[in-house]
Amino acid sequence: MIGKIVGLGSYLPSKVLTNKDLEEMVETSDEWIVERTGIRERHISDPYTESVSQMAVNAAKEAIRDAAIDPEEIDLIILASTTSNMVIPSCSCVVQRETGAKNAMCFDLNSACTGFLTAYNTAQSFIEAGHVKTALVLGSECTSNYVDWTDRGTCILFGDAAGAAVLRAQESDRKNMFVLHADGRRSDCLYAENMKQRKDPEELIPKTFFQMDGKEVFKFAVTAVPQIIKELCTKFSIDKDEVDLFVLHQANRRIIEAVSKRLDIPLEKFPMNIDRMGNTSSASVPSLLTELKKAGRLKEGTKIIASGFGAGLTWGASYIEF
Ligand code: UT7
Repeated sequence: MIGKIVGLGSYLPSKVLTNKDLEEMVETSDEWIVERTGIRERHISDPYTESVSQMAVNAAKEAIRDAAIDPEEIDLIILASTTSNMVIPSCSCVVQRETGAKNAMCFDLNSACTGFLTAYNTAQSFIEAGHVKTALVLGSECTSNYVDWTDRGTCILFGDAAGAAVLRAQESDRKNMFVLHADGRRSDCLYAENMKQRKDPEELIPKTFFQMDGKEVFKFAVTAVPQIIKELCTKFSIDKDEVDLFVLHQANRRIIEAVSKRLDIPLEKFPMNIDRMGNTSSASVPSLLTELKKAGRLKEGTKIIASGFGAGLTWGASYIEF
């Protein structure tokens, strides 16, 4: 058994923050941001109407419509988020309540920007083991809540969004093909702490913002992503030249260009929406898949390698056939 993606959906907050807007907030320029990151604008959620769980519900409803299934058929919901608005219950339980997926078991996971791929492969493992027939997998992020809007090294990068995929069990000769890695020794490259339980939150508030060593994360990404894609191809005898699309976590256009060059694969095979979305962490891969489907670029049999990477450090790659 393997889970086939039969539905995709996404949600983007309506408020757009352009590079020009950021010029008013920190010492930066549209030119610098575009040249160093490829980002032109990002979407910022409304704290009252566009929380991680609310955005996830919207993406989930679109994915369920796209899959043309009854929500009661869903056996499992896994939501990946680094910026969840819920401590308890999990956001996946909110998604369950709001979509009417009353037969699903639900849990959230946090694997930073690798979150969607981690959730996707976890769902695939439930399907392969025969426990689940239909799964809903989501990535949803309000990164804007964790951004220090006075730090030009991070505030220009991030954006808010949610994406969702419905997987359906299908007889198959092949197993789900994936590789996931983590290196917790390098957690100081990118982190944010939850200070709610401490006594003096005012003083500690800066620690709740994303703290990032951008150069280190950049070096990690341009090395680890080509390596893990090669590892995936070797492990499962995939010919990388036969892969149609490489759907990478959208963190920086220069990272994607470097991966394309290091793998010697044309950049046209690396779709991007980073210019309009910025880095939306675990929401980037499912949002981009949704865009590709809407643009008619995902046909029956389209071969994809998806890859995520980020805080942890964590990184992963999956082979997905439509
Ligand atoms: O999901 C994973 C999450 N994170 C990432 O993927 C981040 C990976 N890293 C990056 O994308 C890049 O490292 C950044 C975009 C964050 C930074 O780009 P960079 O080319 O590595 O710049 P830098 O940090 O080396 O800074 C170069 C210069 C510095 O000035 P000096 O010291 O050369 O005078 C910075 O102070 O650019 C300056 N700078 C800026 N200037 C204008 C840093 N941020 C900005 C800014 N606007 N926003």
